[in-house]
Amino acid sequence: MDLKELREQISFCDKAIAEAFQRRLELIDEVARYKKEHKMPIYDPAREAEILGRYSGDTKALFTEIMRISRGRQSRALFPYNIALIGFMGTGKSTVAPLLAQALGRGYIDLDEEIERRHGRSIPQIFAEDGESYFRTLERELVEEVSQADYLVIACGGGTILREENRQALKRSSRLVLLTASPLTILERVKHQAHRPLLGGKPTIEAIAYLLAQREQLYNEAADVRVSTDGLSPAEVSEEVVLALLQSM
Ligand code: S3P
Repeated sequence: MDLKELREQISFCDKAIAEAFQRRLELIDEVARYKKEHKMPIYDPAREAEILGRYSGDTKALFTEIMRISRGRQSRALFPYNIALIGFMGTGKSTVAPLLAQALGRGYIDLDEEIERRHGRSIPQIFAEDGESYFRTLERELVEEVSQADYLVIACGGGTILREENRQALKRSSRLVLLTASPLTILERVKHQAHRPLLGGKPTIEAIAYLLAQREQLYNEAADVRVSTDGLSPAEVSEEVVLALLQSM
């Protein structure tokens, strides 16, 4: 076969792939309606493993991408907004956000990580060199920017929703999911981490309980849905978030 003929054959294959893909997307939309009605999670790891198990190499890579697209499509139909994780330090916002984004086939942004990346300094450095109010200004600007986006998972900082303007901006474009945890759970999660200037070098349960009590009402008022994370793994929290959003519809 000459090149022209080969290319004709390829176009023939592409047409068949495009038609089958289109049909697959229509079926996915039906699945999305079924899952919405039955309040089922979008991401079904066992089902995906079963599909991927049938293929290997490049074909497997293609199906991995097809399923990511399918999850994204289902999640845009079910949750046509950004999902912002809010809550106190150590409730799992930054850990859960990438898992949730993967399960929903959408992108995510972590506000603290993005500020660190853009400014080339860690959060404790920014606090130490320029003070908390400078950090809050950077945070404020970034909140405004991400509130313009669609279909993102947003991991907020623990203090993000303390400002009225941030709450309003987030509310315009996002559902706010409050992750909660007891002071003891929070202490367990943050005690070996040094990147939280507000808790000092050695966090205590008293300091956590005090700050949490000050903020609790605001967190609760800002939240559209709540998920308690005590005793749950990050993957379980991600699943609970999806279920809580489905329940709230
Ligand atoms: C803060 C929480 C931190 C970070 C900054 C201030 C807060 O985020 O934004 O240290 O005011 O609670 P995490 O909740 O991700 O630790």
